[in-house]
Amino acid sequence: MALSRKLVQQRSSVFGSRSMSWWRSVEPAPKDPILGVTEAFLADPSPDKVNVGVGAYRDDNGKPVVLQCVREAERRIAGNLNMEYLPMGGSVKMVEETLKLAYGENSEHIKDNRIAAVQALSGTGACRLFADFQKRFRPESQIYIPVPTWANHHNIWRDAHVPQKTFHYYHPETKGLDFAGLVDDIKNAPNGSFFLLHACAHNPTGVDPSEEQWKEISKLIKEKGHFPFFDMAYQGFASGDPERDAKAIRIFLEDGHLIGIAQSYAKNMGLYGQRVGCLSVLCEDEKQAVAVKSQLQMLARPMYSNPPVHGALVVSTILGDQELKTLWLKEVKGMADRIIGMRTALRENLEKVGSPLSWEHVTNQIGMFCYSGMTPEQVDRLTNEFHIYMTRNGRISMAGVTTGNVGYLANAIHEVTKST
Ligand SMILES: Cc1ncc(COP(=O)(O)O)c(C=O)c1O
Repeated sequence: MALSRKLVQQRSSVFGSRSMSWWRSVEPAPKDPILGVTEAFLADPSPDKVNVGVGAYRDDNGKPVVLQCVREAERRIAGNLNMEYLPMGGSVKMVEETLKLAYGENSEHIKDNRIAAVQALSGTGACRLFADFQKRFRPESQIYIPVPTWANHHNIWRDAHVPQKTFHYYHPETKGLDFAGLVDDIKNAPNGSFFLLHACAHNPTGVDPSEEQWKEISKLIKEKGHFPFFDMAYQGFASGDPERDAKAIRIFLEDGHLIGIAQSYAKNMGLYGQRVGCLSVLCEDEKQAVAVKSQLQMLARPMYSNPPVHGALVVSTILGDQELKTLWLKEVKGMADRIIGMRTALRENLEKVGSPLSWEHVTNQIGMFCYSGMTPEQVDRLTNEFHIYMTRNGRISMAGVTTGNVGYLANAIHEVTKST
């Protein structure tokens, strides 16, 4: 009896250890630098705490916002929606409206059916689908990524097994664009390289090229035969006007480039969790566009089969109705204007508390983020001493700044930067 119990124990430990060994080599993944900030913020019991980490819009009370146009679209949709699958390429209507925003209402390229476009899982999904497409059809290619960039760009192209190179973008001393470095890198890259460009409101720096600089960049990229891929996650958030924020893309189109674009409705429609976006690739002709679209669908099929329906219907309801579209444009402008107002308020408050440093870049930079120039150690002090949460690269999400916390924030920034 005693012997058989021992045998059972031995057996179970053998089986147990065998089954446990499957994942024994798995180490915990490093925390995501952006999402980890929110976790730490939520765990902090301090009543003074401020979250300027995550790139999601907040109203002047620090609360998440659902746009009125979205509420109204949802009201119209309610009860009329069945739960059938969308086609692999997603909602045709949503994609049609989305292309107009990027390529222009009267785009010849749209009329000529030269654009291969599919609904994507927001901007991230659009970038990932493109990276996989790039790997499948240009397996020898690399991607040139700006320094710095949204951290997830590195993960996306890494997981798609596309080798990465970087190009100069931000100049830490001027806290502006390193145009000379950027131009050199475009010139020195092997002909026919892929370049990842932020169409507007560059994340994390808030630094965009001027119109003249975009023209120059477009010309050089054309001369070198590079492929420009635009990530446009913030259309409308830079200037308050989606049309104006598409300017860089329009310059490239005028210059006759073939381009790719990732579009997202996370920020400009506040549809973060709905995961609505679009990937488009401008082709030489309709026949090529049909082929490219079919291959994009082929990539989507084994990953997620087809995209979610609700957010796409919200978008197509808003953009397909003049009254709702006008309301949306007004609300986008409202969000952008509040952020612009907070930039001015932050700079004024820093000057008021007597900071001797220059904070001009706070108002020069645009979009959701201010790349403050603070060091990781200064950010640590903000968090540890003042309960202010942000990424260690010194990026302040201006969307988290409010009339109520801007004074506190400015004072804390002054405290941690005054000895530099
Ligand atoms: C530059 C950039 N691209 C893409 C995205 C993707 O966002 P989403 O997948 O939520 O559309 C973000 C979000 O922060 C971003 O900043």
